[in-house]
Amino acid sequence: MQDFKPREQDLDPIEIASREEIEALQFHRMRRSLKHAFENSPFYRKRFIEHDVHPDDLKTLADIAKFPFTTKQDLRDTYPFGMFAVPQAKLVRIHGSSGTTGKPTVVGYTADDIDHWSNLIARSIRAAGGRPGDILHNAYGYGLFTGGLGAHYGAERLGCTVVPISGGMTERQVTLINDFKPRIIMVTPSYLLSILDEFHRQGLDPRESSLEVGIFGAEPWTNAMRREIEDAFNMQAVDIYGLSEVMGPGVAQECVETKDGLHIWEDHFYPEIIDPNTGEVLPDGEMGELVFTTLTKEGLPMVRYRTRDLTRLLPGTARTMRRMEKITGRSDDMIILRGVNVFPTQIEEQILKCKGLTPHFQIELGRDGRMDNMTVHVECAPTQADEGARAASAKELAHHIKSVVGVTARIDVQDPEAIARSAGKAQRVVDNRPAN
Ligand code: DLL
Repeated sequence: MQDFKPREQDLDPIEIASREEIEALQFHRMRRSLKHAFENSPFYRKRFIEHDVHPDDLKTLADIAKFPFTTKQDLRDTYPFGMFAVPQAKLVRIHGSSGTTGKPTVVGYTADDIDHWSNLIARSIRAAGGRPGDILHNAYGYGLFTGGLGAHYGAERLGCTVVPISGGMTERQVTLINDFKPRIIMVTPSYLLSILDEFHRQGLDPRESSLEVGIFGAEPWTNAMRREIEDAFNMQAVDIYGLSEVMGPGVAQECVETKDGLHIWEDHFYPEIIDPNTGEVLPDGEMGELVFTTLTKEGLPMVRYRTRDLTRLLPGTARTMRRMEKITGRSDDMIILRGVNVFPTQIEEQILKCKGLTPHFQIELGRDGRMDNMTVHVECAPTQADEGARAASAKELAHHIKSVVGVTARIDVQDPEAIARSAGKAQRVVDNRPAN
């Protein structure tokens, strides 16, 4: 681990400042940010007035709970530029979240926003074990998605040599990894699995590749998947979190020396956990919906943005800043099957226990009469493709899901490579239940 852990003198001083210093900075920045939103974004001005709050009402950090939440619907309602707090000409970049239907939600950045973002990604890559001079293979998608360009600018800021390959053309990904010998890869964990398959297809041993560090995010993945990836590539696999509405990747990052959840870069983002049903703020340690207030964003300040991501806040370890536990899932992705809450990450953990299956999967929801049902589509490992092995794997997986997750699932073991691959975020749930 000595080879990966950054030296203390290379950290930003605030990463290891005292809690008092961090909170004093947060308070100062939060006041300024609320004032900026109120004075420059007609959306926030109206919202604050409707809720009878004013930036001056913030006397302590906890007073943020007096302010109204912001949601994805607010961004949709003000599409495209209605929430921005600077004139459009001051924006140097637009990104958007893909959105499964219709129009994307649009976010905008000033030059200073891009500067902060780059610094935070540089900090994240360093926390993951990267350092200046490393070759970094960036397979996050370039374009409106924040992953590609966000990672790119930060990697350059740290002093890495960036390979801006983006997602897709998997054969070429493997060729370039072999030819350029990157030390670091940034990619969604599900697309990394496709790259892994391609290594095997080409008869190459991924453990012999140059990759030493993988920085994976943009979708939920489990500690079981971490073990799988670390073992397959003989690399360190760490988690990066973020969302376009709040900035993009680099809102929180796992440290390579501890791998115990993600440190939220609290000098730029103030986290809260709320009860998703009542909106009440929950104490640290309790599970709920993650909410962020941005502390430095100019183009699109976010006040109490409801992420829909479920996690809990934990005290700092490798850094003084608080951690968030690895995301269990989004409230939107939670499946309620005959009264039991199920997240795709729970299914992933069970699949990874079955040696006869690959980690590629998709969950299909259907309905027989009045009863919902769940089918887990998985692939057999190429060496376990005969009838008998498939039946045994199906039985094993159904048993794990029943005994650990508590639901009965149908298991459909398909041929190797039969499950749809994505070059970015995997689609884990297909809901074929008829609308009520
Ligand atoms: O996915 C930003 C990003 C790019 C993060 C590259 C990390 C790496 P959006 O497209 O706006 O932005 O999607 C944000 O993705 O609310 C979470 O539900 C999910 N997500 C992002 N990172 C993680 C993670 C980017 N590490 C949404 N674990 C978020 C679990 C994640 N879910």
